[in-house]
Order: sequence, then structure tokens, then C-alpha cells
Amino acid sequence: MKIIITKNYDEMSSVAADLVEKCINKKPNAILGLATGSTPIGLYKELIKRHNDNKISFKDITSVNLDEYIGLPGDHDQSYRYFMNENLFNHVDIDKTKTFVPNGKAEDLNEEAKNYEKNIDDLGGIDLQILGIGTNGHVGFNEPSSKLELYTHIEDLTESTIHANSRFFDSIDDVPTTAISMGIGSIFKAKEIILLASGENKAKIMQTLKDTLVTPLIPASFLKLHPNVTIIMDEDAASLYNQE
Ligand code: F6R
Repeated sequence: MKIIITKNYDEMSSVAADLVEKCINKKPNAILGLATGSTPIGLYKELIKRHNDNKISFKDITSVNLDEYIGLPGDHDQSYRYFMNENLFNHVDIDKTKTFVPNGKAEDLNEEAKNYEKNIDDLGGIDLQILGIGTNGHVGFNEPSSKLELYTHIEDLTESTIHANSRFFDSIDDVPTTAISMGIGSIFKAKEIILLASGENKAKIMQTLKDTLVTPLIPASFLKLHPNVTIIMDEDAASLYNQE
């Protein structure tokens, strides 16, 4: 894994945008794997800026998102489809029919998961996958457990995730308790992976990630087995990183 430590959140976002820009300029029809949450918002802002400055075009890009809450329609303001539209898609020249987010309202969710995974394969796999990390070590919604699902699947969210994500909802009771998520195997099909981490609340998990062996109890630890991962974190997230 390549580790980049940046001064602050803005620099983390800008370094990540450099890598995305490089990928898009090398392959204008790249398949981008995208994440939601607070962490990549600065990256998406930077990509919008570079698009407005005519440095990158999303015209031929396809995107595949990691996950979606079960039960929220795409027009719900806490759904990940809505997040992506608001934070990136509505502001760039991407063809929305080529932006994929799991359908959390699908009648048959297992079928939706199977088709979502097949779509990733049909697209030829993800070129560049953006990831955030949960304070419990989750990536996508692959929660710590004694065993991990390989491919897109239905996941019960842990209490720590529900608690962490309740900041976006009116009340903790409104947070969905299940999600549809790409699995670790789906993420592993990506040719290149960028894991972003920002803020003091990620310092402990980043330290744990550094020190741990590969274990399903820290799903992000599986990234240690992937040949092309770059971690970009700001100084706050890295504050415990070099301590023994
Ligand atoms: C989002 C996702 C999650 C988040 C993680 C960190 O699509 O899959 O794994 O990346 O929960 O969230 P933030 O960035 O809000 O701290």
C-alpha cells in the first residue's frame, strides 16, 4: 500500500482529485467506483472545479457506487443516489444513465444484488475505486464480522455504523438498519483503489489498520492484499499512525 499523508482535508481532496484526473485523462471512458459519506465531498467539489476549468470531462465516464440504504428511494435526501446527484452528477457532464447506485427499493433485493454485481463484470470491472473508511473499519457497508460476503449483498448495519450515520438523519430511529453493498470481492476487482481518511475520529482505525493482520473483523484490512492501493489521509487521521 502506498501511504500519502496530507496537511489537511483540502489537500487530501486535491491529491485524490489528481489521481482521478490522471485516470480520466488516460482513459476517458473509465469506470469509476464511487463512495458517499463526508470524506469524499471535498474530492467531488475539486472534480467539479476541474470540470468547470475544462481539465476533465465525465462525458464518457461510467460510475458504480458502493452502496445504498435499503428502503430509501433515490429521491430521499438521505439516499446515496440523491447524495451523488447533489454532490457530483448534477454538476458535471456525466450521462446519468451510466451512473449506477444500487436500488434500495428493489422488490427483490437479492436479485438486485446479483444484477448489480453482474453489471460490474459486464462493464469490464472498475478502473479506479474511491473508498472511505468507517470508524469500525468497514469499507462500503462491509461490516466487521467473523466472515465477509464476497460480492454485492444485503448487509445488516452495526450499531456503531447506525450511530455514526445518525448525524445525517433527524433521529437515530430514522437511520435504515440494512443496506445493499458491494462486497470485498467486488471492490477487489478494481484495478486501482484509493482509500481516503480525514479527521481525528479516524486516527484510531487508521492506526489499527496499520498494525493489524488481515481479518474480517477489520474489513479494510483486506486491502493489504490488493496490489494497487493508495491511502490518502490528512494529518489528523494520521496522528496515531507513526506511534508505536
Ligand atoms: C459510503 C461508504 C462508507 C463510508 C464510511 C465513512 O458509500 O461506503 O463506507 O465511506 O462510512 O463515512 P464518512 O466519510 O462519512 O466518515
